[in-house]
Amino acid sequence: MPSPFDVLPVDPDADEEEIEQAYRERVIEAHPDHGGSASEFQLVRTAYEQLRAGYSPESDAEFEPEPDVETDGEQPATSRVEYLDYEVLDDHGWSLDDEDLFETAAGADLDPADYGEFLVEPHESLLEAAENRGFMWPFACRGGACANCAVLVVEGELSMPGDVILPQEMIERGIRLSCNGIPTTKEMQVVYNLKHLPALEELRLPPRPFEQAYLND
Ligand code: FES
Repeated sequence: MPSPFDVLPVDPDADEEEIEQAYRERVIEAHPDHGGSASEFQLVRTAYEQLRAGYSPESDAEFEPEPDVETDGEQPATSRVEYLDYEVLDDHGWSLDDEDLFETAAGADLDPADYGEFLVEPHESLLEAAENRGFMWPFACRGGACANCAVLVVEGELSMPGDVILPQEMIERGIRLSCNGIPTTKEMQVVYNLKHLPALEELRLPPRPFEQAYLND
């Protein structure tokens, strides 16, 4: 297996910020939607996990990569997810802090792309479930390296692998990534398309090649 320093690539004395920056660039190039392959994508993700875990050549043999999508504890058979598009919320002048946000949305006669609900099957990530039900939710890397797929969990919980770039304060606020998050509660309410939230601007990646590939599918 190649050294993670060569895979990203970064110098052996690179700091956390340099490793994160290199990962964000490499994970995009490696994605199958952007000319890479599934194996290259996994190689880059594993290299990033290794470096975050304090990789040294001596520890290489013991390293176990994390699974692609992991759940925290029990996963329900199916989960019902009620969703709302952040852009619609913004257009209506509603706030993420409104206690009756979803009740308001339910009574606003919104387009099904903007508000509604669907079921998530076991082992589907939230993004996969949305796509499998015909919705086009935003994403870019599918590797935990951006905020393009971010959602705000208003009710319920979505699992999250440890190797994501979201700052702790955002995680504490209920922001999760839909590309690798699996519902761990039977009922959920999420605001998707959160990439337009100003606080997430710096963590966004250019989505165009991926959205274009999606549209061409
Ligand atoms: S699409 Fe980049 S973290 Fe989910």
